[in-house]
Amino acid sequence: MVRNCGDLVAFSLVFLTVVSSGSAWVGVNWGTMATHQLPPEKVVKMLKENGFTKLKLFDADQLIMAALMGTDIQVMLAIPNNMLQMISTSPKAADSWVYENVTTYFFNGGVKIKLSTFEIILFFPFS
Ligand SMILES: *[C@@H]1O[C@H](CO)[C@@H](O)[C@H](O)[C@H]1NC(C)=O
Repeated sequence: MVRNCGDLVAFSLVFLTVVSSGSAWVGVNWGTMATHQLPPEKVVKMLKENGFTKLKLFDADQLIMAALMGTDIQVMLAIPNNMLQMISTSPKAADSWVYENVTTYFFNGGVKIKLSTFEIILFFPFS
């Protein structure tokens, strides 16, 4: 199923995730801690070629987000651990995180960002 396998070892791999409807889908966790980083456009191309439609990002990397613009890949964004404290205690920090990392890409033809329950819980008190 996976083409260009050699490159896939460079980032953390493919996992089976179960969504609330009970149906299972195969998604990709794209970690950016790898020592050898692939160009985002190349990774996005591989994801498309292999039919992946869902992606979880641990970091709203600008280059990755730019490479995902205009694709049909649904992206779930995580807030990096080292920012959780600040974002959960400062509405201003939360606002600017959302503005810079979500709003910027969230338009027709942009990145299909899925807000997880986690994020909704986190941001509800400030909105
Ligand atoms: C947006 O996300 C990136 C990557 O996680 C982070 O470095 C940056 O500080 C965030 N922007 C804001 C305004 O919080």
